[in-house]
Amino acid sequence: MRKLIAGMKISVDAKMEGPEGVADWVAGWSEDYGLMPQIDACLLGGGMYPGYETYWTAIQNEPDKPLPMTGKLPTPGEVEWGRFAAQTPHFVLSRTLTSALWPTTRFVRGIEQVVALKEKPGKDIYLVGGARTTTSLIDAGLVEELRLIVYPLIAGEGKALFATTECRRGLELRKVQQLQGGLVSLIYGIG
Ligand SMILES: NC(=O)c1ccc[n+]([C@@H]2O[C@H](COP(=O)([O-])OP(=O)(O)OC[C@H]3O[C@@H](n4cnc5c(N)ncnc54)[C@H](OP(=O)(O)O)[C@@H]3O)[C@@H](O)[C@H]2O)c1
Repeated sequence: MRKLIAGMKISVDAKMEGPEGVADWVAGWSEDYGLMPQIDACLLGGGMYPGYETYWTAIQNEPDKPLPMTGKLPTPGEVEWGRFAAQTPHFVLSRTLTSALWPTTRFVRGIEQVVALKEKPGKDIYLVGGARTTTSLIDAGLVEELRLIVYPLIAGEGKALFATTECRRGLELRKVQQLQGGLVSLIYGIG
């Protein structure tokens, strides 16, 4: 079965965004978990998909222009992910969304359809987020690996990644790596 691998950028107090709904301490939303060689599909929640599509469409269309939503130039890593994302099917877990701009985007309507997606032949699947989707799929026992990048910051107010987690779960630490800028990459296996 294909593995489902979650990647999230969090503060030391496990916040995935600040009170304004943005993790403004994250300099770029590139795929910094080293997943690109091993994945051929992305799964994300209906909560984050519309903003995600707008963000990456802007980078795909004008990689050398500042982003309308942040005023910042895309980083080289973001341009690389924008290209990769354009060629990679995206599956959106939602019972309410019905349309997407990207022709390769499909909807999955519940946990059973996530299981069916994992059973199809292919490479691993990157679980892009957001928090409720990641925690509900971990609770359902469908996520094999959790990759976290921890930023050197106590964010205080904001949404916690595991705020909606229902089940206690032990993790197996597989790799720890210090990154530039005081960031730490953590890879956990989920039993
Ligand atoms: N820090 C990071 O690395 C990172 C990464 C990704 C995203 N984010 C942030 O995360 C935020 C979005 O997270 P979120 O928790 O609000 O929303 P989300 O997880 O993106 O989406 C939640 C929605 O997904 C659907 N869903 C989730 N679990 C489901 C299930 N088991 N069965 C059926 N549908 C399910 C539901 O959609 P329907 O209501 O349509 O049915 C639910 O409302 C964004 O602000 C984004 O910026 C941060």
